[in-house]
Amino acid sequence: MNINLFKATKMEFDTRYRKGNFGRSSLPKNPNETMKVLVTIAVGVLLGFFLGVSFPSLSLTRLNITTALIHDFVIIGDKSTTNFTQDNPSSTSRNQTTTDVSQIWVPSNPKGAERLPPGIVASESDLYMRRLWGKPSEDLTSEPKYLVTFTVGYYQRNNIDLAVKKFSENFTILLFHYDGRTSEWDEFEWSKRAIHVSAIKQTKWWYAKRFLHPDIVAAYDYIFIWDEDLGVEHFDAEEYIKLVRKYDLEISQPGLEPNRGTTWQMTKRRGGQDVHKITEEKPGWCSDPHLPPCAAFVEIMAPVFSRDAWRCVWHMIQNDLVHGWGLDLALRRCVEPAHERIGVVDAQWIVHQTVPSLGNQGQAEEGKAPWQGVRQRCKNEWEMFRNRMENAEKTYYNSINSTEHT
Ligand SMILES: *[C@@H]1O[C@H](CO)[C@@H](O)[C@H](O)[C@H]1NC(C)=O
Ligand SMILES: *[C@@H]1O[C@H](CO)[C@@H](O)[C@H](O)[C@H]1NC(C)=O
Ligand SMILES: *[C@@H]1O[C@H](CO)[C@@H](O)[C@H](O)[C@H]1NC(C)=O
Ligand SMILES: *[C@@H]1O[C@H](CO)[C@@H](O)[C@H](O)[C@H]1NC(C)=O
Repeated sequence: MNINLFKATKMEFDTRYRKGNFGRSSLPKNPNETMKVLVTIAVGVLLGFFLGVSFPSLSLTRLNITTALIHDFVIIGDKSTTNFTQDNPSSTSRNQTTTDVSQIWVPSNPKGAERLPPGIVASESDLYMRRLWGKPSEDLTSEPKYLVTFTVGYYQRNNIDLAVKKFSENFTILLFHYDGRTSEWDEFEWSKRAIHVSAIKQTKWWYAKRFLHPDIVAAYDYIFIWDEDLGVEHFDAEEYIKLVRKYDLEISQPGLEPNRGTTWQMTKRRGGQDVHKITEEKPGWCSDPHLPPCAAFVEIMAPVFSRDAWRCVWHMIQNDLVHGWGLDLALRRCVEPAHERIGVVDAQWIVHQTVPSLGNQGQAEEGKAPWQGVRQRCKNEWEMFRNRMENAEKTYYNSINSTEHT
C-alpha cells in the first residue's frame, strides 16, 4: 500500500471528522462550557503537537492520539451541559445528545468489536463491486451467489477465457495473478467485471488464506478454487451446482478425464452417472472403505466448497504451507458424515492438462532445477502438515483427558 497516500487520506478524514463533530450537536451552548472544551482541545492539539515534535516519524500515531483526546473531551463537555445521568436512562436528554459510548460492552459481538452497538456491526462482506455515486441501496444490479477463483499467469489466458465462459453471470470471477500481469487481461470483455488480485509467485492456497476469509466471502453459497490448466469442454457450472445441491455435496470436484495422466481412482470420471462418493483403490491403500483415498476425498486442483465447509477448511489452511499438499486428505474433518457429503460429479467433468506453471518457477539451487526445489517443498509441506495435525490431535485429547480426571 502507498503509505503516503494512506496518511494523506487519514489526515483529510481526521480534519473532516473534527469539523463534523464541532459543527453539530456536540458544541455546548453555554459560553463557559465552550471555553472549557476549547481549552481542552487546545491542550489536546498541543500535546499532539509535542508528541509529533518528539517523534516526528510517528505522525500517524500522533494523529490517532490527538483525535482520541479530542473525542473524549467532547463527550465530557456534553455530559456536563445536559446533566446526563446513567441512572435515569429514559430522560429526555438522552434522546437528544450523545450518550456515554464508553458504557457499551457487548460480549456477543465479534471478538474485538465489543464496544460497538450490535446494530452497526457489519461482520460479513462480499466481493460485489459498487459505484462511486448514487444511492448505495441501488448500486447492485445483481448479487451473484457463487464465486469462482483461478490462480493465473498471463500465458494461460486463452484457457482461462474458455473456462470463465463456462461460468454464468451468477458467478463472481476472481483472478489471482502470480506473474504481476493484470491490465493485459482487459482484452477480454469479462475482465472488467472480474476482481484482480496480484502478488508475484504466490500459490493458490496462499491467496485463498489471505483473500477468501469466510467472513469476506459470506455472500456465496459455493466457492470454486481452481487451477488454471483445466480443460472445461464438458463442463457447465450451473449444471454442476444443480447436481451438487441435488446430492447434498459440501465438498466436491468435477470428475477427471481418466485417460490423462495419473490420478486417484476416486477422482476419475465414471460414465453414465451423476456423481460418486466411494471407490476402490489398490489393495491395502484404504484402512477403511469410508476413508481417503477410497471416500471422503477430492483433490486440491479443482475443489468446490459450500459456504459452511469453506468456513472450516479456511481455518485448516496453514499460513506457511503454501502448496496445500495433504489438505485433500484432511478435508473430511470439516464435513459430517464425510463419506456421504464429499463426492465427485461425473456428469460435469474436466480434463487436467498438466501445463507447467508455478511449479516451474522455483529457484535453481545446489545444482537442482527450479522445479525440483518446488517439488521437494511440496513433499516436505505434506509431511509437516500431517505432523501438525497429529500433534494438534494429541494435544487436544491430552487436555480433554486431564480435565476429565481432575
Ligand atoms: C442534575 O440533575 C440532578 C438530578 O437529576 C440535580 O439534582 C442537579 O441539580 C442537576 N445539576 C445541574 C447542574 O443541573
Ligand atoms: C427516546 O427514544 C426512545 C427510543 O427511540 C423512545 O422509545 C422514547 O420514547 C424516547 N423518549 C423521549 C422522551 O423522547
Ligand atoms: C442464474 O440464477 C438464477 C436464479 O437461481 C436462475 O434463474 C438463472 O437461470 C441462472 N442463470 C443461468 C445462466 O443459469
Ligand atoms: C484420552 O481418552 C480417550 C478415551 O477417553 C482415549 O481413547 C485416548 O487414547 C486418550 N488419549 C490420551 C493421549 O491419553
